[in-house]
Amino acid sequence: MIDANFAALLYLLSGVLFILALRGLSSPSSSRRGNLLGMVGMAIAIVTTLLVAAPGDWISWILILGGLGLGGGIGAFIARQVKMTDMPQLVAAFHSLVGLAAVFVAAAALYAPEAFEIGVPGAIHAQALIEMSIGVAIGAFTFTGSVIAFAKLNGNMSGKPIILPARHLIHIVLAIVLLALIWAFTVSAEPVLFWLITIVALVLGGLMIIPIGGADMPVVVSMLNSYSGWAAAGIGFTLGNTALIITGALVGSSGAILSYIMCKAMNRSFISVILGGFGGDASVSSGGAEEDRPVKQGAAEDAAFLMRNAGKVIIVPGYGMAVAQAQHALREMADLLKSAGVEVRYAIHPVAGRMPGHMNVLLAEANVPYDEVFELEDINSEFAQADVAFVIGANDVTNPAAKTDKTSPIYGMPVLNVEDAGTVLFIKRGMAAGYAGVQNELFFRDNTMMLFGDAKKVTEEIVKSLGH
Ligand code: TAP
Repeated sequence: MIDANFAALLYLLSGVLFILALRGLSSPSSSRRGNLLGMVGMAIAIVTTLLVAAPGDWISWILILGGLGLGGGIGAFIARQVKMTDMPQLVAAFHSLVGLAAVFVAAAALYAPEAFEIGVPGAIHAQALIEMSIGVAIGAFTFTGSVIAFAKLNGNMSGKPIILPARHLIHIVLAIVLLALIWAFTVSAEPVLFWLITIVALVLGGLMIIPIGGADMPVVVSMLNSYSGWAAAGIGFTLGNTALIITGALVGSSGAILSYIMCKAMNRSFISVILGGFGGDASVSSGGAEEDRPVKQGAAEDAAFLMRNAGKVIIVPGYGMAVAQAQHALREMADLLKSAGVEVRYAIHPVAGRMPGHMNVLLAEANVPYDEVFELEDINSEFAQADVAFVIGANDVTNPAAKTDKTSPIYGMPVLNVEDAGTVLFIKRGMAAGYAGVQNELFFRDNTMMLFGDAKKVTEEIVKSLGH
C-alpha cells in the first residue's frame, strides 16, 4: 500500500520520536511530553508496519489488530491496577514476554524462512542463522532471568542471595556450551541445535539470576531490560524491520546505561552484581533485625514544634513514603512550614524507594515544586546548615555504616549525611531494618527522634499540629 522508501522514512521518523521521548523522560518537567512523543512514534511505527506487512491481506490485519487490542487491553488493565511500589516486578514480568517473543519469532523464521525472505527451509542465509541464534539465546536467557527476578521482587521466592555450589564454574561451562551450539547451528541450520540453544539459554538465565540478592534486583531488572532491547533488535534484523532495530538498540543501550548509573549509586561494580550474593530479603524488608537498645521517641506535636521553630528543614523521602502514599500529606506539611517562614528542601537519593526516579515521580504527583527537589550530590553538604532532617520512610539511604563499616553490605554506597543536621526525625513503623537488611546506628543517636507509625498517618498528625 506504501512504497518501501516511504516506509523507511516513516520508521526513521518514529526512531527520531523515540529518541526525543527518551530525552523528554530525563527530567520530571518534560516527562509527559516525552511520553507523548514516544506514543506518537509507536503509533506511526505500528501503522507503517500494518501498511507494509499486510497490504490488502485482511486476515493478517485482523490477526495483528486483534493481538494489539488483546495485548494492549491486558497491559492497560494491569497498568491501572498495579501499585507504584510493585512497578519493578511488573517491568520484570513484561521483559519476560519480550524474551519469549524473541524466541517465538526466531522459531517462526526457522520453520518458515520464505515468509521472512531469508531463504528456504534447509537453506537459510548464514547471516540470518547468526541473527536467529543470538536472538533466541538472548530471548530465552531474558525470559527465565526475568521470571526469577519477578518471583524474587514479588515475594514468591526469597530475596536472599542463594549461593549454589560451584555456580561460577557451572555458569562458565554453560556459557561455553551455548557459544559452541550457536556456532554449530550457524554452520548446520539443524533445528535440534536451535532448540538446544533455547534450553541451555533458559537454564543459564535462571541460574545466573537465582544467586543475586534482593538489594541488587533493580540493577538486574534494568540489565534484563537492556537484554530484552538487544533481543528485540535481533528480531528487527530477522524481520528486516528498521523501527524494531532502532527501538531495540535504544532500549538495549539505555538499559545498559541505567544499570551502570545504579551500580555507581550503590557503589557496586557491575561484575560483582552479576556474580551475585549481596543483599537482604526483599519480601520481608520490614521484618528483620528488631533491637532492644533504647531510642528517643517523640510524638507528632514534638516534630511539629521542632520544625516550626527551625530555619531550614531537609526532607528525605524513602520507600516507606511510597508504601504509605504519604506524598500529598508531606507537601501539605511543607506548605505549612514554608508559610511559617521555614526553608524547606527535599533530598533525593538515587536509589531511594524501589525503582529509579521513584521519589521524583511521587513528589511530582503531589505537585512539589521541582526547584525544591535536589539530588544527593547537590544537597549533601547542606545538612550541616539544616536544623532538622525529616526522614520519612527512608533507612538504608541514610545509614552511616555505608561510610564507616567495611563489613556492611552497603559499605561504599554514597548516603545522605542526615546526621549532620541539628535534629534527625525518622518516621517509620518500628525498628525494622531496610531493604539491605542492616541496622541503622542513627536511630540510637542523641540528636535523633523516632516518630513511630505509618508515614501518612504521622505526617497528617504533624500537619494538624502545625495548623493549630
Ligand atoms: P529502605 O532502606 O528499604 O527503608 C524503608 C523503611 O521504610 C523501612 O525501614 C521501613 O521500616 C519503613 N516503612 C515501610 N513501610 C512504611 C510505612 N507504611 N510507613 C512508615 N515507614 C515505613 O528504603 P530506602 O531508604 O528508600 O532505601 C532504598 C533501598 O532499596 C536501598 O537499599 C536500595 O539499594 C534498595 N533498592 C533500591 C531500588 C531503586 S532503583 N530505587 C530498587 C530496589 C531496591 P518499618 O518497617 O520499621 O516501618
